[in-house]
Amino acid sequence: MTLTRLRTPLSSAALLSGIFTGYSMAKLTVRDLNTHGKRVFVRVDYNVPLEEKDGQMVITDETRIVETLPTLRLLIGQGGKLILAAHLGRPKGKREPSMSLRPVAARLAQLLGCNVNFVDDCIGEKVQRVASEMQPGTVVLLENVRFYNEEEANDPAFAEKLAQVADVYVNDAFGAAHRAHASTEGVPQIVAKRGGKCAAGLLMERELKFLGDELENPAHPFVVILGGAKVSDKIKVIDRLLEKADSILIGGAMAYTFRLAQGHKTGKSLVEPDKGEIAKSALAKAQARKVQFLLPVDDVIANPVKTDKLDKKGKPVIEWQNPRSTSDLNCPDDAAGLDVGPATVKAYSDVIAKAKTILWNGPMGLFEDKRFAEGTNAVARGVVEATQKNGAKSIIGGGDSVKALNKAKLGDKVTFMSTGGGASLEFLEGVTLPGVAALQDK
Ligand code: 3PG
Ligand code: MG
Repeated sequence: MTLTRLRTPLSSAALLSGIFTGYSMAKLTVRDLNTHGKRVFVRVDYNVPLEEKDGQMVITDETRIVETLPTLRLLIGQGGKLILAAHLGRPKGKREPSMSLRPVAARLAQLLGCNVNFVDDCIGEKVQRVASEMQPGTVVLLENVRFYNEEEANDPAFAEKLAQVADVYVNDAFGAAHRAHASTEGVPQIVAKRGGKCAAGLLMERELKFLGDELENPAHPFVVILGGAKVSDKIKVIDRLLEKADSILIGGAMAYTFRLAQGHKTGKSLVEPDKGEIAKSALAKAQARKVQFLLPVDDVIANPVKTDKLDKKGKPVIEWQNPRSTSDLNCPDDAAGLDVGPATVKAYSDVIAKAKTILWNGPMGLFEDKRFAEGTNAVARGVVEATQKNGAKSIIGGGDSVKALNKAKLGDKVTFMSTGGGASLEFLEGVTLPGVAALQDK
């Protein structure tokens, strides 16, 4: 398989309008601040997965907390009074005890090695009193901002209340930057109006650097690996990346929508039957731009059997029987495709092995089940190898691919893993993130 390097030059409109604007360098960051003695309102994304164990909520992945430590340490070192605000889950304006940030405060205190004062509200008298009693270099974590409907509504009066304890605003919540909510957009607007500084945290800066600047002028070959369930989720990203990539490798259930569009049978595979035209136009565009666009040439399929068990969301659990690989592109009526097959793994691995820049978003199959994890794991190994052997820059665009890498214990062997899910995708699509737009330029 040879890589085609012919690309049409980027139009200046494309350069200006989004994905590869590289605007992170222009934003004020915490390094530019002197926060000594000031109340610093820090928006973080502590929307971490929790599980109940013996009546207690336990954090099952603390990456998002760990990744904010450099910002927090820097601000503590400056002598700022840190007031952290975050959301957890989607409590829809209600006080939902299972979505309290209290367990996060306890873990953060351990990680920082200092006291973290938890306040069981995010606005009001109690918050103001606690803030007024703070010493320089101390940390407070406020309760879930989404316990108020006004947060997601970006209610101006609510934003004013939050901003009452904000002399300076810092946003380190890249994962929530695609939300125009009170704590991500309303508060910085108020702080700026008062003449206060609004800056990016170090994690925010890193996210914008790797998902933005680093992909602006990628070393070639630039290989993009996209998986996941839906073509509709990724089509805008495909569109943008066709401007830059040498190869795009497709896996996951979205591959079956392409398959269907090409006139094959997809059996019980997850497909979006109404997205055939989108899939076809992506293929046509890739051809016109001479971008190598690879679809799976074989699959691992299995037969679904309904059980009377229910999953956490109350949906019937499906058992997959008789897993097997096949190179017949027509899936039997009673089976579904659940992973890419061995020939696809080989073909994709060969392309990845030559890459100098890699962007990976979305698993190749149902990797949570180890019978359907080989495609995803092989990609993970290939990405790590290219990073180590070629010095390739490997950028993992958040969500399930991060989960898969961590599961394979390879998370620390890639160049960058995003903490964003929806935010990374929107940023890669070229959308201006409200939480970033609200920050001041240098
Ligand atoms: C995330 O986990 O994707 C972010 O924290 C944003 O959460 P949301 O999708 O509920 O807005
Ligand atoms: Mg989300």
